[in-house]
Amino acid sequence: MSDVKTQYEAFPYPERDPKDELKRLITGSPSHPLELDHHLFGGLRDWSGTTRILVAGGGTGDALVQLAQVLTSAGKKYEITYIDLSSASREIAEARAKVRGLSGITFITGSLLDAANYGPFDYIDCCGVLHHLPDPQEGFDALAKALAPDGGLGLMVYAPYGRSGVYPLQEAFGQLTKGLTPKEQLTQAKAVFEKLPESHPFKRNTHLVDHKQSDAGFYDLLLHSQDRPYTIEQLAASLAASGLQLAGVPQPYLYQLDRFTPRPDGLDDIAAMALAEKLDGTIKTHVVYAKPAGAACARAGQTDRAVPHLKGVGAAALAQAVAAKGRIPVTLNGIRHSVELPKASASILAGIDGRRDIAALRKGAGLDALAWAAIWPKISRALEQFGLLVYSRLLV
Ligand SMILES: C[S@@+](CC[C@H](N)C(=O)[O-])C[C@H]1O[C@@H](n2cnc3c(N)ncnc32)[C@H](O)[C@@H]1O
Repeated sequence: MSDVKTQYEAFPYPERDPKDELKRLITGSPSHPLELDHHLFGGLRDWSGTTRILVAGGGTGDALVQLAQVLTSAGKKYEITYIDLSSASREIAEARAKVRGLSGITFITGSLLDAANYGPFDYIDCCGVLHHLPDPQEGFDALAKALAPDGGLGLMVYAPYGRSGVYPLQEAFGQLTKGLTPKEQLTQAKAVFEKLPESHPFKRNTHLVDHKQSDAGFYDLLLHSQDRPYTIEQLAASLAASGLQLAGVPQPYLYQLDRFTPRPDGLDDIAAMALAEKLDGTIKTHVVYAKPAGAACARAGQTDRAVPHLKGVGAAALAQAVAAKGRIPVTLNGIRHSVELPKASASILAGIDGRRDIAALRKGAGLDALAWAAIWPKISRALEQFGLLVYSRLLV
């Protein structure tokens, strides 16, 4: 058995109890249907047919459950294939789906390198997996081959700068615990960890929390046998090598170079993002959406049919805060930002319910096309850059 399979049989990741499905739904990026629609389908995906989905390296099922539950609640048809090397992880994912009564899922214990045998897929989720493959490029290639020509992927891979302090410890613990079982490795590494100085770069890096949350988290972060981070430039190059292109990121603000300095002449989009990544220093994962190279990447929100959704914030509360202060606080990677929104936008924001389209919101606000064009694009951009607003017709 490979070290990676041994690890995930011993420590299915992330640690989840199927009974918790009765209490809460875990949502996140990538792979919330509203978000993937926004970045991959210009927010105008026609959800009336059956959406064919692959969850590659699905672990204990976070993305699987999110996709299946949100689509089920929206009354949309789907077929999801879940693949993972670890049968222990699969059992937990299956149990979670069962607690929720979700159907339409095929569970496979196997390798995502065989993904094309089960496709083609309209959407592929692959979160936190490719950087653990012996040859990650093989994984990018396999997923690209399994994708329908008009489909898209949502990926997460590790990024180097926000994980500062991780790699020297992974090397040291790897050397110290070689040949032990995963449980023995964990015990030994935890004992050594307690003796690290408070000034160790890992301990100083407040963005890293996985090791505090569970044994599976500690193992995944500090004892992984195979883990390579990607800069955004390296990620874009791997996508390109597989015939894919970057289509969008959920929080574009993180990669905006103009937060720090004007873009130097001659720098292309990816090089500018790469510079921003270095200057920001807190990015520990890249969440990206990708499409086949050459496929059109329509910008969401450009037509009257576009339906905006607020993410992580209720319309009424947002409208109230904007009316009172003309700005809202947003925390990204542990850093607080203040997003300025004109006080006059409060009544428009209050009308956003995931069902009204731009035409209905404009009418509701009593604005003509000119007045709308003067205010809405500013509101939309301000919220989109932090991932607080996405467009999708999922609920109409
Ligand atoms: C860090 S976990 C991520 C789980 C899940 N995607 C999530 O984000 O919660 C990585 C998962 O990838 C699986 N994995 C690693 N290599 C794989 C491969 N070649 N094919 C399928 N699954 C793989 C592991 O078994 C593990 O469950």
